[in-house]
Amino acid sequence: MQSTVWWQYGILYEVYPRSFQDSNGDGIGDLQGILQRLDYLAGLGIKAVWIAPFYPSPMADFGYDIADYCNIDRIFGTLADFDQLLQAIHKRGLKLILDFVPNHTSDQHPWFLESRSSPDNPKRDWYLWRDPSGGGGPPNNWLSNFGGSAWTKDGDQYYYHGFLKQQPDVNWRNADLREAMFNVLRFWLDRGVDGFRVDVMWMLIKDDQFRDNPINPASNPNGPASQRLLALYNTNRPEVHEIVAAMRAILDSYGDRLLIGEIYLPFDQLAAYYGQDLKGAQLPFNFHLIACAWSADAIAQVIKEYEAALPVGAWPNWVMGNHDQPRIATRIGRAQARVAAMLLLTLRGTPTMYYGDEIGMTDVPIPAGEVQDPAEKNEPGLGMGRDPERTPMQWDSSKLAGFTDGTPWLRLSADHAMVNVATLSGETDSMLSLYRTLIGLRNSNAALNSGDVEVVTSNGHVLRYERADEAQRFAILLNLSESKEEAPIAAGYILASTHMDRSGDAVETTLSLRPFEGVIVKRAE
Ligand code: NOJ
Repeated sequence: MQSTVWWQYGILYEVYPRSFQDSNGDGIGDLQGILQRLDYLAGLGIKAVWIAPFYPSPMADFGYDIADYCNIDRIFGTLADFDQLLQAIHKRGLKLILDFVPNHTSDQHPWFLESRSSPDNPKRDWYLWRDPSGGGGPPNNWLSNFGGSAWTKDGDQYYYHGFLKQQPDVNWRNADLREAMFNVLRFWLDRGVDGFRVDVMWMLIKDDQFRDNPINPASNPNGPASQRLLALYNTNRPEVHEIVAAMRAILDSYGDRLLIGEIYLPFDQLAAYYGQDLKGAQLPFNFHLIACAWSADAIAQVIKEYEAALPVGAWPNWVMGNHDQPRIATRIGRAQARVAAMLLLTLRGTPTMYYGDEIGMTDVPIPAGEVQDPAEKNEPGLGMGRDPERTPMQWDSSKLAGFTDGTPWLRLSADHAMVNVATLSGETDSMLSLYRTLIGLRNSNAALNSGDVEVVTSNGHVLRYERADEAQRFAILLNLSESKEEAPIAAGYILASTHMDRSGDAVETTLSLRPFEGVIVKRAE
């Protein structure tokens, strides 16, 4: 039976608001811009839009440093714009997912200003303040994800920040802080949002004894500093699950809402975020396709391990890209990215797409003088920068790609005159046409959507699996190489090829796959 739950059958699409569509010529995308592009999103066939943070922020980490959880930064618009956007989203039958960042605030948030004002302030305990260690240095060896110690001295004490020093971590052991954060959820739920993607969900609570992290024996001495230690005591603590369950309970009290967790963990630990009795996150983000080697063996292994690790009744999900990761078309090349699209859209579980991947956008090299991302500025040259995957959406072949009339906050890709929505919409075999076809097939064939995933195998360069329900069976064969491959196949006909031809062709016993070709075969019986 086809799932009728929207976040199970539907496709999620991430919009990075600075880069999607500018409506007022300041070179930065905004809510009115997203509104202008809603028909494009609805036409693509996605179900839910997740918008990365748009709240008031000093933008030290481009909105992941929030100074007011219950408002809109003027760069992006107003609460009235938000309400208009939400209404327009719902009118089109789509859902809206907000980004909730409860691990840290901006250092300009009134809560932190109060907290830092004096050790006696009632909000002192809303953040993680500790005395210096015996020798006078930081309280322990915990490292920031953006390089250097995670502790900054302010007065006589240090405060903890897992990211920038402008992003102090809050103290989830404090009941008032918890309630204040839960009220943020209620504020947006009352306005009608359909769910949240919770930033760094696995980092929310820290060891109550603040024990030193152990050395990571596998770390690369020339790599990012944060990888020198194993984040044992400042991430993935057992107490986190109770917080996630409390968030979920709030969402459930509003009815049909979705809780997503941003979690970079191995499958066995990731699975725990579904929660006891599945009362945690409905979708703990699965980033393993981003992390794994691009080979048939490695991907087959990932699919099998993930399916095996899922708790009974848990719904899977797959993510191919986001605003923190190199784009798929850069990682494996544009030709292979078409195969990746077929993989993402035929696996069992909710797919999450990243804006621009549907037109094959690639990472844009950003010259040193134009770097915006603090991750790159703090540790230059280590490949930590995320600007390349955050460049403006390419809408048409005009000078500024239809993104803005002003100066884009990040440079456009050099290929935007060719690689853009308008041009690719007119080409029947383009990446965008492929995405539209695959999304259409997923949305209209129950077995591709909610069927089981079976017979996952790798044979040389060919990854193969089947999707089946009581009525239909599909075989998916993906050639991950640049050579021709032959694969045995049961009789049926081709439903779609990544090359956008030969659909309807019958297959008998063997299927010849061209280089970089993926094929969906509908089985005869
Ligand atoms: C994860 C977000 O996706 C990333 O962009 C941000 O820098 C960190 N969390 C800190 O909020």
